[in-house]
Amino acid sequence: MTRFNCIPQVAALATFGALAFAQGALAQVSAPPQEHGPNQQYFVHGAPQVQSEGWTIAAGGRIYDNWWEALDREDPEGTNPVYPASAEQSGPGTYRCKECHGWDYQGADGIYSKGSHFTGIKGVMGVSGMPAEQIMPMLRDANHPYTKDMITDDEILRLATFLSKGLVDMRGFIDYDTRSVIRGSGDLDRGREIFQTTCAACHGFDGRALDWGSGDEHNFVGTEAVELPDEVMNKISNAHPGAAMINLRAFSVEDRINVMNYIATLPTGLEDYEDDDDDDKG
Ligand code: HEC
Ligand code: HEC
Repeated sequence: MTRFNCIPQVAALATFGALAFAQGALAQVSAPPQEHGPNQQYFVHGAPQVQSEGWTIAAGGRIYDNWWEALDREDPEGTNPVYPASAEQSGPGTYRCKECHGWDYQGADGIYSKGSHFTGIKGVMGVSGMPAEQIMPMLRDANHPYTKDMITDDEILRLATFLSKGLVDMRGFIDYDTRSVIRGSGDLDRGREIFQTTCAACHGFDGRALDWGSGDEHNFVGTEAVELPDEVMNKISNAHPGAAMINLRAFSVEDRINVMNYIATLPTGLEDYEDDDDDDKG
């Protein structure tokens, strides 16, 4: 469920205690995760009265990512009965669309063709371009045990609209062998321009103002873009479920790829922080 985090930075410092002060840089670069405040509840979990297509597609994309975080519902219990017994994951995560169909929408043909997320299940690219009304019944079939208490019909329509109009083939900018952004697949200067004028408001110019890692493991925008570019493309296109984050749905696919190219150049850890006078490692 959603975290309401109104703890001021001071309290967070007290929590991290002497360690944060000793390390100095840590307190400066990273703020504790702050998903959203009470006044943002409706932006994060509600819906506008007149829905633009971009809003609807992005809202569907967040449901695809994690429907209970996106919609502020109870987590499902146990492991999804449809999740293959031979596959390695268990627990509520097996109810996420991305767990069976992938961040790249290619299922067993894509990034999840190997590794701990392999299921053998096909992707959802095949329904791209189909009318949403035709996709909706598929999301209530026996492969998808989602009740109306979990995902309502209105929300299923958002999901179907996302599948119909919001999917991107990531092979043009992600190297599937190394799971990394293909250098030169986008315009770095344009990516920097968008990042500095939008994302930086929360993530900082060098992407290190928000840290969702724990302990010594830092997880910044740069870290994530280098390690999990397919996941990040989904997050920047639709926003992170449950967080008061903007999304780039109103920008072109090319612009989102430009941003991917740029954020893959941002710092992934704190190594270089202390000698760094200029925040922008562009
Ligand atoms: C536990 C695994 C699992 C999860 C989670 C899951 N699906 Fe599926 N999905 C399947 C299986 C199995 C099929 C049937 C694949 C086949 O026909 O080979 C399928 C088929 C589909 C299809 C039809 C694809 C096609 O080309 O025919 C769509 C669309 C789809 N799922 C969307 C979703 C969405 C949206 C979610 C999240 C709300 C979701 N799925 C969650 C297992 C899953
Ligand atoms: C209004 C503030 C805000 C803006 C603007 C913003 N974000 Fe975020 N972003 C957040 C918050 C809050 C989180 C959640 C951090 C957490 O998990 O605790 C987040 C999370 C993320 C994540 C990590 C999701 C995960 O896997 O946990 C990525 C990647 C990301 N943002 C990239 C971006 C990019 C790129 C932009 C610009 C297109 C952007 N963000 C703009 C607030 C923002």
